[in-house]
Amino acid sequence: MKRFVPTIDSGSRSPDAIFADLEEAFRSPWRHRMVEIADLIAGLRAEANLLRWFIAKVARRKEWPKLTGAQSFTLFSSETMLARINLWFPLSADASDSYRRYLSIEELHNHDFDFFTTCLFGPGYVSTFWQDHEFHETRRVGDKIALTDRETHRLEGNDVWFVAASTDFHSQHAPSSFSVTLNILPNWLERPTTIQYVLDEGHSIKTVIDSGLPPIDLAA
Ligand SMILES: [Fe+2]
Repeated sequence: MKRFVPTIDSGSRSPDAIFADLEEAFRSPWRHRMVEIADLIAGLRAEANLLRWFIAKVARRKEWPKLTGAQSFTLFSSETMLARINLWFPLSADASDSYRRYLSIEELHNHDFDFFTTCLFGPGYVSTFWQDHEFHETRRVGDKIALTDRETHRLEGNDVWFVAASTDFHSQHAPSSFSVTLNILPNWLERPTTIQYVLDEGHSIKTVIDSGLPPIDLAA
């Protein structure tokens, strides 16, 4: 995971203009432009703007609900980019295990896509990251993965994280109160693999997900 902390948060540009700039960036060798991309994403954090845009451009056009995960709603998609919001709820003590799994809470997993993320509303979640330096897509249930580089961060403030496909494993912990995050997936139709893994506490694979294209299962 790469962490960016943009200093700008103007909120003065429309989401349409920022999405257009992001699309342009993702048509280029964008991995060399991550600081610029993180600044653009920070500009989307004016959540009133973005939520108004969502209602006007998506919900009112009867595209609702366009789920791309258990609690994920697509804001915008094109060939070069997908933007979605994720709703995160605090867990009560008696929440069922299936409900927790449904919301991808305390589930150690990777993704078959790269994404940037930032918190739009609420305290955000704490996430634990691990690295899998030897990712390959032929593993089976029960195989143990030698994860390294454990680190824990809170997604808050102007933080913009970049989470790499396949090699970045992570587990989100439930937020203390309702939070909304934004995911930006660059070139989401051109994934290097369609395989994702969900691991148990001992880092053995408990579920292999072959998402195919384009469905996206786990929240990010
Ligand atoms: Fe995730």
